[in-house]
Amino acid sequence: MTKPTLFLTRPLPEPVMAGIPARYELISDPPDRPPSPVELKQGFARADAVICTLSDRIDADLLSHAPRLKIVANYAVGYNNIDLAAARSRHIVVTNTPDVLTDSTADLTWALLLAVARRVVEGDRWIRTGTWPGWAPTQMLGSDVSGKTLGIVGMGRIGQAVAQRGAVFRMPVIYAGRRRVPAPLDLPWEWQPLDAVLAKSDFLSLHVPLTDMTRHLIGPRELTLMKPTAYLVNTSRGPVIDEAALVSALEAGTIAGAGLDVYEQEPTVCAGLISLPNVVLLPHLGSATLETRVRMGLICLDNIAAVLGGRPALNRVN
Ligand code: GLV
Ligand code: GLV
Repeated sequence: MTKPTLFLTRPLPEPVMAGIPARYELISDPPDRPPSPVELKQGFARADAVICTLSDRIDADLLSHAPRLKIVANYAVGYNNIDLAAARSRHIVVTNTPDVLTDSTADLTWALLLAVARRVVEGDRWIRTGTWPGWAPTQMLGSDVSGKTLGIVGMGRIGQAVAQRGAVFRMPVIYAGRRRVPAPLDLPWEWQPLDAVLAKSDFLSLHVPLTDMTRHLIGPRELTLMKPTAYLVNTSRGPVIDEAALVSALEAGTIAGAGLDVYEQEPTVCAGLISLPNVVLLPHLGSATLETRVRMGLICLDNIAAVLGGRPALNRVN
């Protein structure tokens, strides 16, 4: 019996790759760079199943040239890169990788929050220039984290995991978003309208998916509502923030700083951000641990096995 064909747009961690040849015919050995539009088209044309990443744009045209395709397994929790309606109309299942990356993304969110509040990266840079003169009482003062108010926009799995970590820092949590979640018994979580969350938060962390509703959710008006001492953290999707407005706000002191893992035009990061000292910039590392990236790959393979085997996908999103 011939094996089903699998198109991988990028190489995945070795423990994931190791499981593929026994079950699938790999259409081509993916190079470790984004596929060109032609390579994408050639892959989709022959594939029974695809594993793609958040930087691959899977649009209606591409899906219309994929006659055998049954499933697109997105190697990410977010799936704004895929035209879900076009997939649905062609009976192509789309899946994502929820749950397995919740903790790693929440951990990285805290790494950014702490790094920007306590000027970790600035301090490291200073040491490396060899010009640090030694300890001084007023040197490189940051902001307290413990006891401050943590604002969360989007209380899904990742938002909740970030909020839970706030408990050990004794932070009251206020959150905005469509989803209301019961506060864990001993934790002070409270839903409030977005404007109130913007106005009261000392640290504001974004955890919404990118949709037409959330594009530029944080723009000039929202930034002005924030405290001048507040920090903004984004590990969701870049376009949730109006990046030009953020640069202006950071330059003007409208807010104190930002920790960013995602950008409007990845991999381009606007020059305004790069020249600011009060931002910490990471290259989209939210889920980037070996354990998580292996689990994400295995989930993609589980979803593919289910759909090609005639069973319901485990993580269908369309
Ligand atoms: C990463 O950004 C993801 O959506 O998994
Ligand atoms: C958000 O990204 C979630 O996982 O709920």
